[in-house]
Amino acid sequence: MTKNNFNTIEYANGKLIILDQTRLPFEEYYIETDELETIAEAIEKLRVRGAPAIGIVAAYAMAISLKNKGDNPTQRFNKWLNRLAATRPTAVNLFWALNEMKKVFEKNISSPNLFDILLGKAEEIHDNDIEMCNKIGQNGLSIFEKPLNVLTHCNTGKLATGGEGTALNVIKTAFYAGKVKFVYVDETRPLLQGSRLTAFELEKAGIPFAIITDSTAAMLMQQGKVGVVITGADRIAVNGDTANKIGTYNLAALCKLHKIPFFIAAPMSTVDFNCREGKEITIEFRKGEEITSVRGTPVTKSEYKVYSPAFDVTPAEFISGIITDVKLFTPPFDFISR
Ligand code: MRU
Repeated sequence: MTKNNFNTIEYANGKLIILDQTRLPFEEYYIETDELETIAEAIEKLRVRGAPAIGIVAAYAMAISLKNKGDNPTQRFNKWLNRLAATRPTAVNLFWALNEMKKVFEKNISSPNLFDILLGKAEEIHDNDIEMCNKIGQNGLSIFEKPLNVLTHCNTGKLATGGEGTALNVIKTAFYAGKVKFVYVDETRPLLQGSRLTAFELEKAGIPFAIITDSTAAMLMQQGKVGVVITGADRIAVNGDTANKIGTYNLAALCKLHKIPFFIAAPMSTVDFNCREGKEITIEFRKGEEITSVRGTPVTKSEYKVYSPAFDVTPAEFISGIITDVKLFTPPFDFISR
C-alpha cells in the first residue's frame, strides 16, 4: 500500500494496523492483526519501535487480549501482560502503558463492558500522545534564538509516537517557524533508523537534510556546521540521566567538547520516577546478526562475536535541557516539583 501520508498505528474494525517499519523507506506495508503473538513479535523485531509507539501498541494489545469473551480474563490478561513486558526492556513507556492498562483492568474486572473500557483507555493513551507531541514541538521553539543547522539521531518522529514526534517534532515545528536551516541525520547503525525512517519523514515533510554516517558528526561539529543536537529518550532517570539509542552519548560528549547545545525531547511519561540515576536503567542487547548483516546481506562472518547494546546512557551533566510536554527543563533537573 502506498500513501502520501501514513499512519504509524491505527485501531479499526477490531484489528491493530501497524506500518511495518522494517520495510521502510522502500515499501509502505501495513500489518493488520488481532493476533497478540504477532503484535509482540512486531515490537521485538522493531516493525513498530520508538518508546511512545511501543507503549501505545502494548495498550491496544492488552485491550485485544480481552476481545473475544471467554473463560478466565485475568489469566489471559496476565499472560499477555507478561509476554509484552518481555519484548523490550529499556523504554519505560512500555511498562508505563502496561501499568495504566492493568489499573483499569483491575478496577473494572467485573464489568460486562471490560473490553470496551480497556479499548477506551488505549485510545486515550494514543490521543494523549498526539497532544503531548504537539506540546513538545511548541515547548522546543524557545531553544532556537536564531535559525540553526540541527543534528539528530535515530528516529523520533511520527513513526516513533502516536503523534508528530518528540525531537523530530521539535525540528519540524522549528523548521516551519523559520528556525531550522538544515538537518543532519545520523544513519544510526546498526538498524538505520536515521537513514531509513527519519529520512523518510523529512522527505515527506519537505525539510532539507543529509544523511551522515554516525562517525561524521565530530567532523561536522569541528567545521562549525552543527548549531544544536536534539535527540529523543527511552527512559529518563530522576536526576536527568537519559537512556536513548546507542550513539547518543557520543553526540552529547562531542557537543560538550565543541560547546554545542545538546537537548533531549520526550514526554513526561518517559521520566521513570522509580529510577534515581542512569546506572539503574536496564539496557537491551540485540542479536549479533543485526551487526554482521545489513537487511539480510552478510557484511562480515556471521560467527564473529558481537557486542550490541541498543541504548546508552547520557549523564545529566552533558544535557543542556530536556524538552517535555510540560515545559523545557534545564539543569539541575527537577521533575518532581516541576
Ligand atoms: O530501538 P528503537 O528504534 O526503538 O529506539 C528508539 C529511540 O532510541 C528513540 O530515540 C526513542 O525511543 C524516542 S522515540 C520518540
